[in-house]
Amino acid sequence: MSDTNQMPREEGIDHSLSLMREGYMYILNRRQSFNSNVFETRLLGKKAICMVGKDAAEVFYDTEKFKRKDAAPNRAVQTLFGKNGVQALDGQDHKHRKEMFMSIMSPEGLQRLTDITKKQWNTALNKWEQVDEVILYEEVKEVLCRTACQWAGVPLEEDDVKEMTKDLAAMFESPAAVGPNHWLGRNARNKVENWIGELVDKMRNGEINPPEDTALHRFAWHRDLEGNLLDTKTAAVEVINILRPIVAIAIFINFTALALHHFPEEREKLESHDEKFAQMFVQEVRRFYPFFPFVVALVKKDFTWNGYKFKEGTLTLLDLYGTNHDPEVWKNPDVFSPDRFAKWEGSPFSFIPQGGGDYFMGHRCAGEWVTIEVMKVSLDYLANRMEYEVPNQDLSYSMVSIPSIPHSKVVLKNVKRKL
Ligand code: HEM
Repeated sequence: MSDTNQMPREEGIDHSLSLMREGYMYILNRRQSFNSNVFETRLLGKKAICMVGKDAAEVFYDTEKFKRKDAAPNRAVQTLFGKNGVQALDGQDHKHRKEMFMSIMSPEGLQRLTDITKKQWNTALNKWEQVDEVILYEEVKEVLCRTACQWAGVPLEEDDVKEMTKDLAAMFESPAAVGPNHWLGRNARNKVENWIGELVDKMRNGEINPPEDTALHRFAWHRDLEGNLLDTKTAAVEVINILRPIVAIAIFINFTALALHHFPEEREKLESHDEKFAQMFVQEVRRFYPFFPFVVALVKKDFTWNGYKFKEGTLTLLDLYGTNHDPEVWKNPDVFSPDRFAKWEGSPFSFIPQGGGDYFMGHRCAGEWVTIEVMKVSLDYLANRMEYEVPNQDLSYSMVSIPSIPHSKVVLKNVKRKL
């Protein structure tokens, strides 16, 4: 008798369209119908495995079992990631490149980022007081573009802020798009890669010299395991791997504003300025709202898990949103409750809005601490340092569009600084 079982399987030629139609719910819907944390399907014309939950995350992040090279679909590489970036590396090459990223995430580096973020919120608030209403999502993207460039050592002229914000945003707003929006993302990436590449060259021949602890400086002078500098394009891709996702934190900040509006009883608790509760609030925003739907890898070599065969080369998706809403880990997962983090023991595989596992050995997001710090500063401004009205608008958000952004992008009226 065989000691392996047939994995629950979705019949049919291809389900890429269902994935696009169901978005964040695609894996969760099938988990329910198959009553299984793992199932087989067909995506982009190939066999694929979908997984969800803490145990699935643990096996997905086992670098003996899964690899990243050639796993991401080309359209995401052309817009979101860029070619030859850290996301597609494995083994020692990955570890060495990841150390380059983590070297700028020191306590001093994060403090510098916090200070810049506060300064930029202050400047923005002065501006918002002068106008009738602001579209928070658009405004915060600009605040974060300025913050990201300053932190990364990238010189940005005032005249270029709007265009740079638009280009960096197009990269993360377009990866799931088809048609014109996809091309918008591709063009934006080409343009910004060329410009950052020029800065890398200028850095290397001494024409500019941003501080030693900035991404531009570190990445331009980083040497690979053979002792070579990164080629200009790859260095640019990696600097953009800092700039682009900092601007993307605007999505979480939009959801933060939404949470403050929808859950006034939780907002009240922020009035005591309790640092711990602010952190819990931010964590719950990252758990509760949809952002990065899933991560992908390829099976590195044949193995069996829970009686199911995983064949070398099979595309595998780990559901991040679903794992953050897994009733086996989270009590009442669809209730917004920051208090759940008061006693949370923290498994690196159960709370995975930005990937799971280890920062250095695996692909967990290099910018998770950055995200939390920027969100905490932003929460403090939204909850304690400004007053505003939230006029009638469509604050609903889609569980299909990736990334999901509240439909009205959160309009605020009569913004005033709290004295
Ligand atoms: C805006 C909120 C963010 C979300 C939702 C997010 C989400 C993610 C996810 C899901 C991954 C992939 C994990 C995996 O492949 O297993 C990732 C990787 C990564 N993120 Fe983030 N991220 C965010 C912010 C940031 C920030 C602010 C930075 C940099 C300052 C950053 C830099 C990176 C890098 C460099 C990687 C690749 C890591 C690797 O492959 O080893 N991210 N992120």
